[in-house]
Amino acid sequence: MLELMGEWKRSNFCGELGKKQVGSHVTLMGWVQSRRDHGGVIFVDLRDREGLCQIVFNPERDPEIHRVAEQLRDEWVIAVEGTVTPRTEETVNPNLRTGEIEVVAEQIKILNTSKTIPFLIENEVNADELLRLRYRYLDLRRPPMQDNIILRHKVATVVRSHLNENGFLEIETPYFTKSTPEGARDFLVPSRLNEGQFYALPQSPQILKQTLMISGFDRYYQIVKCFRDEDLRADRQPEFTQIDMEMSFVCEDDVISIVEGMMKTVLSETKGIEVSTPFPRMPYSEAMERYGTDCPDTRFGLELKDISSIFCESQFKVFRGAVEKGGAVKALNFKEGARRLTRKEIDNLTEYAISLGAKGLAWIRVGEDGWNSPIVKFLSDQERDLLAEALSMEKGDIVFFGADSVDMVNQVMSNVRLRLGEILSLIDPEKLEFLWVVDFPLLKYSPRDRRYVSVHHPFTAPKDVDVEKIENSPGDVASKSYDIVLNGVEIGGGSIRIHRNDIQQKVFDAIGIVQNEAVEKFGFLLEALQFGAPPHGGIALGLDRLLMLISGQESIRDVIAFPKTQKGSCPLTEAPSEVSAEQLLEAGISSIAKKPESGKK
Ligand code: AMO
Ligand code: AMP
Repeated sequence: MLELMGEWKRSNFCGELGKKQVGSHVTLMGWVQSRRDHGGVIFVDLRDREGLCQIVFNPERDPEIHRVAEQLRDEWVIAVEGTVTPRTEETVNPNLRTGEIEVVAEQIKILNTSKTIPFLIENEVNADELLRLRYRYLDLRRPPMQDNIILRHKVATVVRSHLNENGFLEIETPYFTKSTPEGARDFLVPSRLNEGQFYALPQSPQILKQTLMISGFDRYYQIVKCFRDEDLRADRQPEFTQIDMEMSFVCEDDVISIVEGMMKTVLSETKGIEVSTPFPRMPYSEAMERYGTDCPDTRFGLELKDISSIFCESQFKVFRGAVEKGGAVKALNFKEGARRLTRKEIDNLTEYAISLGAKGLAWIRVGEDGWNSPIVKFLSDQERDLLAEALSMEKGDIVFFGADSVDMVNQVMSNVRLRLGEILSLIDPEKLEFLWVVDFPLLKYSPRDRRYVSVHHPFTAPKDVDVEKIENSPGDVASKSYDIVLNGVEIGGGSIRIHRNDIQQKVFDAIGIVQNEAVEKFGFLLEALQFGAPPHGGIALGLDRLLMLISGQESIRDVIAFPKTQKGSCPLTEAPSEVSAEQLLEAGISSIAKKPESGKK
């Protein structure tokens, strides 16, 4: 039954045929999407990466090939020769790109059969994600997944040509390298030739791209894999791809405008979407104040308001206590929202806040007959007046409150805001809202480490006017850094770097990296900075996150051909896996992994 391709050559993709090709003799090759038997006439939807095309097998025309067509099953691979024919008016399928034509089969070859597939190759899939990942090659046959992976290719192509046209050089940096700190754990690779020693897979090409500037390449880019051993989420993978860039003799505005131009071109050329530039910019402090996060979703309002000052001496212990301990009380007023939220939804929201670490979620409904709320009995008349004024509270509004440490209030209230946006459909899913968040602090105090740590990475430059503050008030130093946010997701971040050794040393001192440690960790960069390092800066964009947003997916896994699960494993290849004792010995390492008890898996 099976035949070889032999001399047959494909003439067209299935999905590209239309009225223009009517009358042409074509050879198509692809997968059987479905076979329908209509009183003798067999219709096969043949699929390839460009789409579907209907093939007609008429028993009266050629009983021989009709008999072959009768055997066809879903996902068999066939080759068909035939003539493109217009469909009759009543059989035109307006939902199909090729719906105005069909191919009348004249010859057929069955090239391969298929086992019964575990889920249907359709737009919407009914299988759970683990099964999809176990049979990823089948999942990737589904048209939306094909679209995502093809979009990925197109975006990368446009990025490359845009950067090439702007004088950037694509230069590769090694994957077997030394630790580059970006805040995660490293993945380590043992060196067989240097027993007991390890390479670290790069968390980013940060240090090496800086040394390329010292080499004089002036403008570098790379579409590059980065590796970070951190807890995974919908927008985080252990290996992911950055569009990584670095430029010499530039300031923040230069980097920002290159990225804006690139985004504009990418969206226009791959999605036909025109965005206007420049993108708005917001200082970090304002983002935290108004949205409680450094990556606000600015597609909708519902901003937070700090009302701590009203409760310094309040009888309501929950609010006063938070303020007394240096924390904050923040509120958001959902105008005219009182009637749009049921009591059940309010309770769910409270539970959600508690799951994020809050001690509760206070609320006030402004009803026809006054304020309805579990906390109103604790508030004085004056506090009520001040609240009503500060939050412009009017009949029909509902206000939510968080009181805790500043970090906790921000975390909880920013997420409550997003959840409200979601459940009340306040967000237009068609919108693409870019935002630059700028003027991040250089350092922040980490109570856990009991020292200052870098907000970005330790190579970020302080603002010129703040250099002198690094030693005595490190928490007040602003940095020359910028993050780019799209629809509330951080899609990129970068900075102007420190190009002078003396300032780099000051920053290491401020974050408690002592001389020996600095030399051990980044000695080569410190040395290189002493050989004529030019002023330089750059940025890296998360390609996976960008694609997730512009393709409207919920997870970056859907824009990566072979992603890992939340637990960092690949159900298709079954990586990671144990290795043989011999391999361990060769690599000079011993494993303390627990062996499964015999008989158990
Ligand atoms: P940063 O650490 O901000 O900066 O990373 C840049 C962008 O990479 C994406 N990203 C990720 N995407 C998927 N999974 C992950 N685990 C993951 N981690 C980061 C994000 C992020 O904005 N060297 C600096 C850049 C620079 O300063 O030039 C850096 O790596 O979209
Ligand atoms: P309680 O007096 O603890 O019953 O709290 C009264 C109201 O305040 C309830 O609606 C709680 O959900 C809310 N609440 C308690 N603690 C906090 C907090 N830290 N922040 C915001 N609301 C809170």
